Amino acid sequence: MPSNTVNGNTAAVPLPKPAPAEVVQVSKGTLYLLTSFALVILAVVSATLAIAVDTNDQVGKLKLGNAVLSSTSSSYSSSPSSSPSSYTPAATPATTKYGSSSPSSPYGSSSPSSPSSSPTKTPPSTSTVNPCNGKKPKDASPGDGYFNNVPCLVDGVKQSLEQSGTNVTKGYKGEIDTQGRMPITSTYKLAGLCPVNVHWHLGAEHLSVGEYDENGKGPLMYRKARRSLNAAAGASVRQGFQCHVYDKSDEKYTKPYAWKHCVGMQIGQTYEIHWPHSAAGMCGTEWQMQTPFYDGVFCRDGIISLDPLNTYQKIGVQAQVFTIVNDDNLYYDNLISGMIINTDKHMGIDVAKYTGSTTGTTRNNQVCSRYTPITWQVDRACHLISASSFDKLCQDMKGMKDDMSDDLYAHGARELVASQFAADNHQRKLIEDS
Ligand SMILES: *[C@@H]1O[C@H](CO)[C@@H](O)[C@H](O)[C@H]1NC(C)=O
Repeated sequence: MPSNTVNGNTAAVPLPKPAPAEVVQVSKGTLYLLTSFALVILAVVSATLAIAVDTNDQVGKLKLGNAVLSSTSSSYSSSPSSSPSSYTPAATPATTKYGSSSPSSPYGSSSPSSPSSSPTKTPPSTSTVNPCNGKKPKDASPGDGYFNNVPCLVDGVKQSLEQSGTNVTKGYKGEIDTQGRMPITSTYKLAGLCPVNVHWHLGAEHLSVGEYDENGKGPLMYRKARRSLNAAAGASVRQGFQCHVYDKSDEKYTKPYAWKHCVGMQIGQTYEIHWPHSAAGMCGTEWQMQTPFYDGVFCRDGIISLDPLNTYQKIGVQAQVFTIVNDDNLYYDNLISGMIINTDKHMGIDVAKYTGSTTGTTRNNQVCSRYTPITWQVDRACHLISASSFDKLCQDMKGMKDDMSDDLYAHGARELVASQFAADNHQRKLIEDS
């Protein structure tokens, strides 16, 4: 069932202080129209208005994507099992120590690297065309550009719903009234989602006080500009927050590592890994993992809907922050499956859950993402992980049927989202509670 806590009637975004009277009550189906309130007032016929009208009067249930794919198509049936890729880190890793705990991802059989349902590297003859290719939506109605980035504010009026990444420190609360709209608090697997991509950012996009924040450190520090040359992208990308663990006198933070698969990575550096999940992914098939991740998120039609709004129940991202060390004692072989959950090591245990948006450096506190609201589950703790774990991840990514090469290097980090654009629904609970 789609959302029952949110519909157009309850989705008003409170307007900023200068216009206190305009707490908008919008009619059913016009959730996003509220963000165009000022435009309505000005009688500007915006694309957004057109969507709302379409949605309300004509479409009723607006489905994203086109109707080319059938979710029942036998072409996309689960692939036969295949062996996980073999991988031998330079030194013998403590796979026996961590091997049994690191794959304790909540994804079980739908996890892309689990041997029983791993997307095969030798495709069946029936499936040579990527069914998710180009599924990243641009429009809600043809040509309206609904999903384009927008100015966060126009004349003091918010143009999109809650954003990411935010402060995830326990007790933090943003200022966007989510009107009872809640993030997924169970595991994504229980909610019917599977991972559809993995990628990471240079530095953390989220902020967790004392774990990864503005006082962190690393081999390169750009406290002002926070920019670093990304060799792979051939361009400078913005650096996010760093963990506090870096110690230049300890060689595990400095000793070069012979990367074989990942590109432009740095020992001692902090990265935030994201695992986008979706109920509309090609779960359990060879096409499950996709780059760009939007293609995987929106792959199957008829599942994700703007009206009634269910995006935050069907799309979720896991985030975990690591400092990379050259120490194979900290090897985890199954990063492709999702956030590491390990009670003994306090990994994936203290998890902030909230609703927000997609991230990346095309957005900041002036330009906002319209891929919102979606659920986020973010581990508040910073963890050490071996470079070999990342390189194994990149090796596994190279083995996926879709070409994931654009995610083998770190992406830039968005600026911390200002509280005025952050949701008020940050959950304090630990993952065990759900
Ligand atoms: C993050 O949130 C915590 C808890 O509300 C707060 O103490 C801290 O100052 C915030 N940090 C930033 C940079 O917003």
